[in-house]
Amino acid sequence: MAKKISEHVQWVGKTDWELTRFHGDELSTAHGSSYNAYLLRCGGKTVLIDTVWRPYDKEFVSRLRETVDLRDIDFIVMNHNEIDHSGALPELMSEIPGTPIYCTAKGEAIIRGHYHPEGWDFRTVRTGDSIPLGESGESLTFIEAPMLHWPDTMFTYFSGDGGILFSNDAFGQHYATESLFEDRENLEGVIREALKYYANILASFSPQVRRKVAELTAMNLPLSLIAPSHGVIWREHIPEIIDFYRKWSDNYAENRVVIVYDTMWNSTRLMAEAIADGIREVAPSVIVTLHNAAKHDKNDILTEIFRSRALVMGCPTINNELSFAIDGLLGMVRGLKLKGKSCAAFGSYGWSGEGPALIQKRLQEAGFTPLAEPLRQLWVPSDPDLARTRAYGSEIAKALPA
Ligand code: FEO
Repeated sequence: MAKKISEHVQWVGKTDWELTRFHGDELSTAHGSSYNAYLLRCGGKTVLIDTVWRPYDKEFVSRLRETVDLRDIDFIVMNHNEIDHSGALPELMSEIPGTPIYCTAKGEAIIRGHYHPEGWDFRTVRTGDSIPLGESGESLTFIEAPMLHWPDTMFTYFSGDGGILFSNDAFGQHYATESLFEDRENLEGVIREALKYYANILASFSPQVRRKVAELTAMNLPLSLIAPSHGVIWREHIPEIIDFYRKWSDNYAENRVVIVYDTMWNSTRLMAEAIADGIREVAPSVIVTLHNAAKHDKNDILTEIFRSRALVMGCPTINNELSFAIDGLLGMVRGLKLKGKSCAAFGSYGWSGEGPALIQKRLQEAGFTPLAEPLRQLWVPSDPDLARTRAYGSEIAKALPA
């Protein structure tokens, strides 16, 4: 059902309460999501901004038809063409095949690569290109935002209704909502999901995010709404979410240390807990969290790593290698290209014991700075061993950069 979000704009997207996995199995979504599409009517022009994920294509077009005669849509704006936003385009275009589609040049290439269309009327745009909306005096202006988070991404700015930035994935969250606006939801929960979204999807492109936020700020656009393509629309906390993006994109770290481990017979777990004790003994203000990589959600762990000053990672040695969970997580950590973070590594072993050194090497390759030499534990830690491990935790805490 369409929902009015401003004088000239209706939300015409799809709320997906059931979604638990996104990007295949790469991303967990604890609060569902939404695929936000918007219908703008101004100055006699009717414009659709983005569509929805492919499984909902027929439902989307059918509901859109209840809101507008599809033939009245003057043009479509595709801010980004990953399938969660462009998936309903083929179904829609089968109804209105001659309708112009405005997108970046990369956007056109991606649409062609995904759907192999024939005869669609692409109009490629660049930053600063603008379309007047009839005689209203209002316009749509395009702002390219490459790698936020795909090469084709752009924002679209509507000058009417106090200024609306259709930002697509940027400022979004996987958060299903009936109310649509952040001030109608639990704000803390929304910010937590925005952070998880940033950490898992955008962190890798933080330099581009930092530059784009600075560019947007310098443009000094009037903004009554930031309307992303997932989750809530921002209206009461626009400066706050922009400020969060500024901070998150700039070597973000809270006063936290995260200990991530895997364990076969609990020896590495005992080490993890002793290290946590040792950190708290000398740095009680540091928040320490522990996560079993094989049991806890990988995307929540990545979020915790993103917001921490240091990652202390532990694993037993298995066939001269690491466990599946730690090995996989290390690959994901490397992909985030985090800057300014510290690390340490530990683990128990029975004979060869390469695990901790392998972790440290992988984390250094991922850009982390080691705080101490890796700590190895032969078999099960005794009380003196645990005392040594606590001391290791204290050594890590003392070595944390100011
Ligand atoms: Fe929500 Fe990059 O698609």
